[in-house]
Amino acid sequence: MIIAVDGPAGAGKSTVAKILAQKLGFLYIDTGAMYRALTLSALENNLDLNDTKALVKLARILRINLEKDNNGSLRTFIDGRDVSQLIREPRITQVVSDVAKIKDVREIMVKSQRQMARQNDCVVEGRDIATVVFPGADKKFYIDANFQKRAKRRFRELKNLNVGGISLENVALDLKNRDKIDSTREVAPLKKAQDAIYIDTTNMTIEEVVNAILIKIRNPDDKAQNSK
Ligand code: DC
Repeated sequence: MIIAVDGPAGAGKSTVAKILAQKLGFLYIDTGAMYRALTLSALENNLDLNDTKALVKLARILRINLEKDNNGSLRTFIDGRDVSQLIREPRITQVVSDVAKIKDVREIMVKSQRQMARQNDCVVEGRDIATVVFPGADKKFYIDANFQKRAKRRFRELKNLNVGGISLENVALDLKNRDKIDSTREVAPLKKAQDAIYIDTTNMTIEEVVNAILIKIRNPDDKAQNSK
C-alpha cells in the first residue's frame, strides 16, 4: 500500500508522515531528503548549480540511502556517510529548489523512489508524489497551512534541529522563494492531485492531522476528494 503525502514546506507534512508510517508499520520515504542530499554533494564538490549536466552526472553516480535508526528516525546517507544533519542547513535549503527543478535529476530521483517502494508498504512524502511518482497511490493527501503558520513551524523545526544562524524573517523569505520555484517549475510542480484529500492544518495539532488521515485510510469507502 502506498500513501502519498504532498504539500508545501512547513505544512507539517514530515512530522505527520513520519508518525503515520510508525503507526501503520510502513516504511517512511522522505523524498525531499534525497534532493537535499544531492544538493549537499554538489556544493561539497564545488559544482556550479547552473551546470545541469554536471548535476545530472552527479545524481547518476551518487548512492543516496534512507534508513531508519534505532530510535525510529530516518537517516540520510550519501555513499554510506550520514548527512542527516548537514542536509538541513540553511545553505542547502536556500538552493535545493534550483537543483530539484532539473528534469533529468527528477527522473533519476523518481526512479529510485519507485524502487524503494517496490517491496514495501510505505508513506511517501514530497511535492509530486500523488501527481507523478505514484499516481496510482492507494491514498493521497495534500497537507497545507497558511503562510505565517508554515514559516513559524519551519523556524521552530530548525531551532529544534539546532540549526544556527536563522531568524523567522530569513525562514519566511526562504519559504516564499521555495514555494514559488517549487510550484511554478516546468517539471512536476507542486500541486494537489485531483483525487487527493486536502487538509488545512493551520489550526490543527499534529495529533488531529494524523487522526484525520488515519480515519480516511481505514475507511475504504471514504473517497472524499476535498477540492480547493
Ligand atoms: O520537503 P523538503 O523541504 O525537505 O524538500 C526540499 C526541496 O526538494 C523542496 O524545496 C522541493 C524539493 N522536492 C521536490 O521537488 N520534490 C519532492 N518530491 C520533494 C522535494
